[in-house]
Amino acid sequence: MSAPERSTILGWGACVPETVVTNDDLAGLMDTSDEWIQKRSGIKERRYVDNDDGSVGLAETASRDALNRAGLSPADIDLIVCGSLSPDIDFPGNSALLQRRLAISGPMAFDVRNQCSAFLYLMAIADQYVRTGGASNVLVVGSEVHSTGIEYADRSRHVTVLFGDGAGAVVIGASPDSDTGFLASDLHSDGRYVGALCVDGPGSRRKPRVPDGWTDTDIYTYPQMDGSTVFKHAVRGMTASVETVTASAGFSKDDIDMLLPHQANLRINQLVAMGLGIDDARMANNIDRYGNTTAATIPILLAETLEEGRIKKGDLLCFTAFGAGFTWGSALLRW
Ligand code: ACO
Repeated sequence: MSAPERSTILGWGACVPETVVTNDDLAGLMDTSDEWIQKRSGIKERRYVDNDDGSVGLAETASRDALNRAGLSPADIDLIVCGSLSPDIDFPGNSALLQRRLAISGPMAFDVRNQCSAFLYLMAIADQYVRTGGASNVLVVGSEVHSTGIEYADRSRHVTVLFGDGAGAVVIGASPDSDTGFLASDLHSDGRYVGALCVDGPGSRRKPRVPDGWTDTDIYTYPQMDGSTVFKHAVRGMTASVETVTASAGFSKDDIDMLLPHQANLRINQLVAMGLGIDDARMANNIDRYGNTTAATIPILLAETLEEGRIKKGDLLCFTAFGAGFTWGSALLRW
């Protein structure tokens, strides 16, 4: 069979833990308030896992959901690509662990470590594999458990209040026609800004990797973030990338029917939308309920927006994200 002209999303799924953690709950653990968090980020609550499962458990549920919607079984998947900055174990990556849970043995599986923009990179990889005939059905998964890796202390309050747990997945395969599916993607990275958002360790440059006498009061295993630098670059990067990706496919930003941005901060997304002239009716956000689930924000948002009936056949969708690295980009898809 010859390779298809376009790839598209054949199925989608999401999974968030049941336990809701409100801003007031966090205010009981550190010096913060519901008012501060809502005003600065738009977040009202997030979900935390309440069992022993890590990001692979959430990924499995989201993946089975996506497979069901695509009308496929795990045996139909010939490539699994996963994104997570909170893998179940240090190595091997979540893709191998998820593959074991889905009882698929043999086909390709690998991980991409691109934090908040991981899902865009993963979708672009899946699109390339499908269009070049390297794979037929690609399971693309973003999943995170942040709640066990953030610090519940005043010095980390600007980071901790932002993050939540969750997973989302899509199955990408051949588009039934040449009008629908992925039209273009635009991806970037700028390693000069590694220090603006990172977790320092444990890493290989430390000898030993986990130093003698290490305690959990050491900041280096917790995320460190220069929030205002991330904020400014995120607004600029996503706005420019949406303009680039639309122009590269012969469209204008006015043609976008639904903007589905990464959920890091509602204020970031409002400024991106304002710069692009996109009103609330043409943008989806759910950060108020889940916070930032990093690699999982875009597939969770897609699943919810579809469920709400806000996306119809033929709509031009634009996904955009920005995160640690810095890495960022956009993708354009005709639904
Ligand atoms: N509760 C109460 N006060 C707080 C909190 C908190 N949780 N966090 C910080 N503050 C205080 C600060 O200490 C500061 O106090 P000061 O004026 O007395 O010094 C004040 O609030 C203002 O702090 P800023 O950092 O200037 O606040 P800002 O308006 O920039 O908002 C925020 C901070 C929400 C972190 C914002 O900068 C942001 O969202 N940045 C982008 C974050 C982001 O996109 N991260 C992506 C991560 S995803 C990934 O790739 C993993």
